[in-house]
Amino acid sequence: MGALAVEAIGLSKTYGAVTALREGHFQLRPGEVHILLGSNGSGKSTLCKLIAGSIRPSSGELSLFGTPTNLSGPNDARARGIGVFYQELSLSPHLSVAENILLGAEPLTRWGTVDRSALRHRARDLIALFGSAAGPGLTPDAPVSRLSFDQKQIVEILKVFSSNPRVIILDEATSSLDRTQVTILFERLRALKAQGVAIILITHRMEEIFEIGDRVTIVRDGLSVATLEIAATDKNEIVHHMVGARIEGSIQRRLRPEPSLETALTLDGLQGPALAPLSVTLRRGEILGLGGLHGQGQSDLLLTLFGAQGTQAGRITIAGQRFRPTSPRAALKAGIAYISGDRRRVGVFAGRPVFENLTLSILLKTGARRVRPGLLRTLLEPILNRLKLKAPSLAVPIQSLSGGNQQKAVIGRWLTTKPKVLLLDDPTKGIDIQSKNDLYAMLDSLCAEGVGIILYSSEDSELLGNADRVLVFNSGQVTEELSGARLTEFDLYQAALKAA
Ligand SMILES: Nc1ncnc2c1ncn2[C@@H]1O[C@H](COP(=O)(O)OP(=O)(O)O)[C@@H](O)[C@H]1O
Ligand SMILES: [Mg+2]
Repeated sequence: MGALAVEAIGLSKTYGAVTALREGHFQLRPGEVHILLGSNGSGKSTLCKLIAGSIRPSSGELSLFGTPTNLSGPNDARARGIGVFYQELSLSPHLSVAENILLGAEPLTRWGTVDRSALRHRARDLIALFGSAAGPGLTPDAPVSRLSFDQKQIVEILKVFSSNPRVIILDEATSSLDRTQVTILFERLRALKAQGVAIILITHRMEEIFEIGDRVTIVRDGLSVATLEIAATDKNEIVHHMVGARIEGSIQRRLRPEPSLETALTLDGLQGPALAPLSVTLRRGEILGLGGLHGQGQSDLLLTLFGAQGTQAGRITIAGQRFRPTSPRAALKAGIAYISGDRRRVGVFAGRPVFENLTLSILLKTGARRVRPGLLRTLLEPILNRLKLKAPSLAVPIQSLSGGNQQKAVIGRWLTTKPKVLLLDDPTKGIDIQSKNDLYAMLDSLCAEGVGIILYSSEDSELLGNADRVLVFNSGQVTEELSGARLTEFDLYQAALKAA
């Protein structure tokens, strides 16, 4: 066998005080499908991004095809034959499907302009791979913004295939695909594998691991803990490697007083577009966690409650009063606040001063045109102190603050409305550990005041460290509720993998 396709030796990546990957050791052989497995936040995507040149290592060595390599960026990696499907998707919504698939590799005419008709044909041939499983509307000319989520994933996959890479990295590429789409993808991967292409696949679905994988490397807390031959292992061994010695002691939970017996929110058969009927009661001072693999309906629940997604059926009561989530404004008036960790898409109003960002919600709620100066003192100051917001002044543009402080400003905005129920949609994504701890402390004090909180986190440790109980989601359905002694990584992972 020739040189390794990829070798990472003690590769690490830190973001300020956060260590995303510490001493990652990893070997990828030509012609193998290598699964990367680990709970949320363990460092899998970080390893992929390092190999794809989209971030730089803090230390350690990366070799590609037997040669130690310092990638200068994603284009450098692409030119060396690395093709990557990013978990967050990297599509341009305003471009067409064909333009996205062949971005940076557009066929040219003799005069050096983009050959539109060749572009469309190439895209059509690639889309044909998925046949009718691509679903209606996935055509070369369709704008990507019009596609459903699974179709966007297919476009991102085809974009990877279009460059004929020698190494393919698929970071949770199958999370929204249905069974037929996955089967088609895997057939293609087998054909590429036979040609010597090396494939890294991140998936949490056990059946996929055993169906397509040759080897699996398990990542835990930023360390690669074991590499196993798939044919010689089983699900139990894999899960034990994943959660390691923490099966017993588990994650440290934050100590908070017991939630009160009063009800903050009740859902009675609430149903949304991607949500099976759900009945649950949230108590005042309680943090209800939403767990499970990414994109299984957790955000749908939060957005439905916030009136941003249109309910189909069910009954919601807030502090005893019936509530219909017809719009975010209605939710706001009923005492619901929604905070997302996806600050760039929802949350931060870039280019606007911190002050405006802070006062937006209260203006919307009261219908006032401007904030009275006195309100600034009585309302904002205590909130800013409590959040430990660090800003040179409230007049600076919000994007000049660090990610952690931007998020604090977004949270501050919602606290001005004195919410009864706080919906947190992966609220600490990509923020530093100090800001995270400030936010957790603030959640504690909100609980003490009787606010009910629903928390979705893509990091299992954050969920287990903060939630009083966790609803585990799978395909839009709550499949299990974990509480007490079952609030462990092991139970959470087991439950997440269990089919709906
Ligand atoms: N840009 C970033 N800034 C700060 N922390 C980050 C950043 N990207 C990832 N992290 C942190 O690094 C850790 C590993 O993240 P990631 O590699 O995305 O995990 P996984 O893909 O296994 O879920 C997490 O704790 C995450 O919060
Ligand atoms: Mg990831």
